Amino acid sequence: MFSRGGSMLELRNVNKSFTVGARTLLNSNKLKVADNICLTLDQGMCLGLVGESGSGKSTLGKMVLGLEKPDEGEIWFEGKNLASMSRKERLAVRRKIQTVFQDCYSSLNPRWPIYESIREPLKNFEKLSAREEKRTIQELLISVGLSPDDMSKYPHQFSGGQLQRISIARAIALKPKLIVLDEAVSSLDVLIQHQILKLLEDLKEQYLLSYLFISHDLMAVRSISDQLAVMYKGQIVETISCKKPLSAMQHPVSKQLVASILPSHPRDRGKARITPSFDGTQELLLAANAN
Ligand SMILES: Nc1ncnc2c1ncn2[C@@H]1O[C@H](COP(=O)(O)OP(=O)(O)OP(=O)(O)O)[C@@H](O)[C@H]1O
Ligand SMILES: [Mg+2]
Repeated sequence: MFSRGGSMLELRNVNKSFTVGARTLLNSNKLKVADNICLTLDQGMCLGLVGESGSGKSTLGKMVLGLEKPDEGEIWFEGKNLASMSRKERLAVRRKIQTVFQDCYSSLNPRWPIYESIREPLKNFEKLSAREEKRTIQELLISVGLSPDDMSKYPHQFSGGQLQRISIARAIALKPKLIVLDEAVSSLDVLIQHQILKLLEDLKEQYLLSYLFISHDLMAVRSISDQLAVMYKGQIVETISCKKPLSAMQHPVSKQLVASILPSHPRDRGKARITPSFDGTQELLLAANAN
């Protein structure tokens, strides 16, 4: 099938830096946000990317979506190098890789009824009659657990969880192969998080999707992913199967992330361990304990 061993997505030695601070003639400060990243995501799988804030997760997601370009290295999708694709091939890939962001309020136009927001990708890529469009949108709303009647409502008439369902409906409208989910459940409360994660799992089976699931929330990532990659300062410091217990994680950064998970009952939170700091990560632990 694909020329490169069936991987849906492959990142090979991807490097990316941003210039930060004032740039002078003689020097400019570079912040390395992707440092020789090598990752593989097989078809139908979910790769979880976890790491502290600023570690480079979203930038990596943007490179997969073609919104940022790697300085060095290659990103292969369905056996083809994104950088050497023709315009036509790139356009085809744009519909095959979709995204769901954390901030559903800003990703939906507040002045548009939901119908228009879900219709947008269909309008751009499919040539459907008005009747077919309406039917497709109704089916999409049903598949994300909303009512077809919801299509005439406006974003402010929905809860955060419902808005995220609408963002997901829009992401699956073009029947993509891969969805980059960047902190897609992070702003939701725990119960709604569970519901959306369950919905994502069901849709993954139904539409044969692959996910790159990005979050700083180790438990959310682990609950949906097959493979987990831990990112720290632009590097993937550990990858591990989600079938393995958390205790199998070896890298100090991974251990810090595990240690920062709060016990589910407030009574037990005082007992949350603060393990020796790893290059500033203790702040993360203290912040977690303060919540
Ligand atoms: N366009 C840009 N120009 C300059 N610096 C940038 C740019 N985009 C991101 N950065 C910097 O790159 C680093 C990594 O950012 P990124 O958004 O990828 O982190 P993240 O792991 O997604 O963090 P978070 O968990 O907070 O979302 C940050 O220090 C950020 O300030
Ligand atoms: Mg981010």
